[in-house]
Amino acid sequence: MSHLPPIQVGLLGIGTVGSGVFRVLQRNQEEIRRRAGRGIQIATVADLDTERARAVVGDAAQVVADARAVIADPAIDIVVELIGGYGVARQLVMEAIAAGKHVVTANKALLAVHGTEIFAAAQAQGVMVAFEAAVAGGIPIIKALREGLTANRIQWVAGIINGTTNFILSEMRDKGLDFDVVLKEAQRLGYAEADPTFDIEGIDAAHKATLMSALAFGIPVQFDKAYVEGITRLQAADIRYAEQLGYRIKLLGITKRVDGGVELRVHPTLVPAKRLIANVEGAMNAVVVQGDAVGTTLYYGKGAGSEPTASAVIADLVDVTRLHTADPQHRVPHLAFQPHAMSDLTIVPMERVVTGYYLRLRVADQPGVLAEVTAILARAGISIDAVLQREADEVGGEGSTQTDLIILTHDTVEGTMNAALAAMQALPTVLAPIVRIRKEELA
Ligand code: HSE
Repeated sequence: MSHLPPIQVGLLGIGTVGSGVFRVLQRNQEEIRRRAGRGIQIATVADLDTERARAVVGDAAQVVADARAVIADPAIDIVVELIGGYGVARQLVMEAIAAGKHVVTANKALLAVHGTEIFAAAQAQGVMVAFEAAVAGGIPIIKALREGLTANRIQWVAGIINGTTNFILSEMRDKGLDFDVVLKEAQRLGYAEADPTFDIEGIDAAHKATLMSALAFGIPVQFDKAYVEGITRLQAADIRYAEQLGYRIKLLGITKRVDGGVELRVHPTLVPAKRLIANVEGAMNAVVVQGDAVGTTLYYGKGAGSEPTASAVIADLVDVTRLHTADPQHRVPHLAFQPHAMSDLTIVPMERVVTGYYLRLRVADQPGVLAEVTAILARAGISIDAVLQREADEVGGEGSTQTDLIILTHDTVEGTMNAALAAMQALPTVLAPIVRIRKEELA
């Protein structure tokens, strides 16, 4: 064991994750030291709420209100950014890099949007920016993509990478409740934030999918090109119908290598109920990676929370501690591929994405309606996989003259489906906006 003194860490922000980092580092310090080769010590904590910070760290670390004091301190080797957001966090990360500090961050929003600038600055300064905690919390998916799977030509990655929405979807399915009701309950239980926009609109998942696309395919982070659709319009009826057809609905972050580019999209997705990932319930996360050599691999665990996220942050601290004296060229590249060997594969527009579809049409229960609908699909060259029609009484109550027609299609180009949807919507016998949910077999 080396006799080097502990590496010095400055923590910016000591909320839920920061306090977990502090606690786990203290609790497991001996194991961590044996792995890292030297101790890892949080020397200074910067938090606007100095009282809260002091309550967590006691006398074990210095507490300051000014994050810049940490960055300016020559004794600090690694800055851990746990502030979040693209505002002050961006400035502080850029300043830390400029000051020659290694950075560990859990900030997916920052890296998905400004990663190109941040990684280039880090490269120029010869410092590491590590971000295991940014995707799927405690699951070491960054490590898997960047190191464990380097033999592979990765074909696709699909993940449940937002615990809040997975919790909501699980509750909707279990209890047969609609989105609004479950969201309120999730907020009451602390599973959803007071302002849940980033989670329920799919933005948080898209940040994470963006990072995984960069790591899987060696392309720059391109959050602005991601297709993002959240779960706010999902209805309990569709979860039930999907189930009757052998599927579960999950909010998936998907990135896929296709002819002419890379797909990058987040949307509610029907997944066959028999797939392991379809059975990931509650606030848990899971990511499936398909590589040409390894086949399908699945990573499962807690995607949020104090100590699960701290587990990922500390893994990065150990990595940086092991490697910080190495020649920067011999370190693991930030985005898995060497910076000069990045690919210029473009993100394909959603109109060109190919996937299966679940359609639900509220129709007049009269002769010829199914034929009209299927004729439109046939003319568009869209192949039907399954059809389910409910009894009118069951859907609209006794004596109802309306019913639900549910159609599953085989793979279709999104643009073709959009045109067919417009034609079906224009039929006088189609009585409400058609529900369209994409479907992935993940075979
Ligand atoms: N809000 C995220 C989630 C956790 O619900 O999974 C942090 O990324």
